Amino acid sequence: MTTIENLFTPGLVAAQQPQWPGGVDGPAVKAAVAELKSLPPLVFAGECDDLKARIAEAAEGRAFWLQGGDCAETFAAATADSIRDRIKTILQMAAVLQYYSSLPVIKVGRMAGQFAKPRSSDFETRGDVKLPAYRGDAVNDLEFTESARTPDPHRLVRVYNTSSATLNLVRAFTQGGFADLRQVHEWNKGFIRDSSVGDRYEKMADEIGRALAFMKSAGADPDSFKSVDFYSSHEALILEYEKALTRIDSRTQLPYDVSAHFLWIGERTRQLDGAHVDFCAKVNNPIGIKLGPTSTVKDALTLIEKLNPNDEPGRITFITRMGAGKIREALPALVDGVTKAGAKVLWVCDPMHGNTYEAPSGYKTRRFDDVMDEVKGFFEVHKALGTHPGGIHIELTGDDVTECVGGGEKISEEDLASRYETACDPRLNHAQSLELAFLVAEMLRDR
Ligand code: PEP
Ligand code: CO
Repeated sequence: MTTIENLFTPGLVAAQQPQWPGGVDGPAVKAAVAELKSLPPLVFAGECDDLKARIAEAAEGRAFWLQGGDCAETFAAATADSIRDRIKTILQMAAVLQYYSSLPVIKVGRMAGQFAKPRSSDFETRGDVKLPAYRGDAVNDLEFTESARTPDPHRLVRVYNTSSATLNLVRAFTQGGFADLRQVHEWNKGFIRDSSVGDRYEKMADEIGRALAFMKSAGADPDSFKSVDFYSSHEALILEYEKALTRIDSRTQLPYDVSAHFLWIGERTRQLDGAHVDFCAKVNNPIGIKLGPTSTVKDALTLIEKLNPNDEPGRITFITRMGAGKIREALPALVDGVTKAGAKVLWVCDPMHGNTYEAPSGYKTRRFDDVMDEVKGFFEVHKALGTHPGGIHIELTGDDVTECVGGGEKISEEDLASRYETACDPRLNHAQSLELAFLVAEMLRDR
């Protein structure tokens, strides 16, 4: 019989795990895991299955995937305002994409669980001080002191509590009338309106308003306009946390990771014989896998074989993150190889992680034009192959930050210092996110 205790293959190497004081089998980790195991699920297995069914639709070209949120959520930023503004931004982007493409948009937050980060180096050095790298609020604190950077397993319980509070607000906002399509103007309130993208949004909102009024006058007022489904997602990185939140679903007797609806495996943890792939193979959530420019067709097919041996529709999403300069060379062979093997996956473009560079001032940033160019390359490749450009995966915030350069507001490298707030990678701000949505909507309309 499948139990959680004997589910996962023992002895596999898990990359990118924190050096917990006392070790992974020590008393502090044990106590945190025991507490997590006693807590109720954050999401329900049935919701994960609903999402999987929608992904299957998107893989067939009948829906579009929009996933967005912080690179790294923080406990401090889990405030009502910050959560609301991220949801509003995603709802606005979804409205734009849906309006111009006439496709249903699957809305997914990098939210309510995105608290752990893989790092390229285990340590960070400033001057002659060397400390453990920041690995996300799930592990340690961003502040550059020895005590802040020491991993603390109790933070995993805080991840659960903060995710729970965030999801509660997400559910209230998206089911309680706020996401009603008639609120399409409201979602823009509080954001700068005097930008050209703001004007464009207001015009579109007017048109949607007229269309809804017309439908109502004709007697149609469907409930589906009144609330939206909004799913949670994060990188399944800290395996102690994810395993503690893996439960056997009472309906199906199958294991699900109930920490989020959708989980993805990062570029640094997708080793075919590694513990992250084994973990995701054993849970029944829909699974994403990041694929960078070194990914081969063989990697992709082996991942499919391990994670989806029964060819379940909607199970696998490949999130490619090649970089604007590489996507046109690297993506065609992958998509072609997977398609020719007969595998059905959802192809999603992450135009963020292959386009990061360091500005002369030392800030990690991304050019809006590179982000757009990667999305453009993604659409071109799929058009040439006759496959579906299924969605986008974006690091964004509803705040008016200056972390990525370019866009309509023409943020320069010199401007970065004025409002650079991310705990990890640079995010598109509200205006840049909307601008991206309009540009992607055009590509989607012309696909
Ligand atoms: C991320 O999504 O924040 C991330 C670290 O991405 P990747 O694994 O693609 O580098
Ligand atoms: Co990131």
